[in-house]
Amino acid sequence: MEKKTLDDIFADCRSCLKCPLGKTRTNLVFGVGDPNAKLMFIGEAPGRQEDLSGIPFVGAAGKLFDKYLSAVGIERERVYIANILKCRPPQNRDPLPEEEDACIGYLQEQIKAISPKMIVCLGRISAMRLIKPDFKITKEHGMFTDRGTYEICAVYHPSALLRDPYKKDEMLADMLMIKEKYDAL
Ligand code: URA
Repeated sequence: MEKKTLDDIFADCRSCLKCPLGKTRTNLVFGVGDPNAKLMFIGEAPGRQEDLSGIPFVGAAGKLFDKYLSAVGIERERVYIANILKCRPPQNRDPLPEEEDACIGYLQEQIKAISPKMIVCLGRISAMRLIKPDFKITKEHGMFTDRGTYEICAVYHPSALLRDPYKKDEMLADMLMIKEKYDAL
């Protein structure tokens, strides 16, 4: 795969109609943050607030995620945040396999352009796509896999923490461990 710039990938995404979501979205939610980030967080797909603003993780789940970043001392501006899908699925349903298949190439190009040392999947959908199809988030969150150029792990999706606050302690422990590894990069 040739290495494209983030601007080139953005332009490709802007005109993308590989799946029907390109027609129903309000805004493309490409990704945000430091183009040279050592750490990337990758969620699932834009929700309503993200679709309206064009920025990932700005709704209720995003606000909770920001609290974890602050709690462990990771600056949002110094990491890069993106999603598996760049366009919002209607009613926030899970992405369809064919939508993921259509969109994943853009994320792979983003990863190549940014060249992070660490990737953290936010939630099981992202983990199943980027780590392994049978990833079990309740058992395997916080466990790193070495991919050579980067290490990858998954944590709970912030929306899951809004539904089940009992998972919050595990999330904080994972985020503290991620910060420790991040500091050592
Ligand atoms: N959930 C996600 O997975 N991504 C967002 O950008 C917002 C909510």
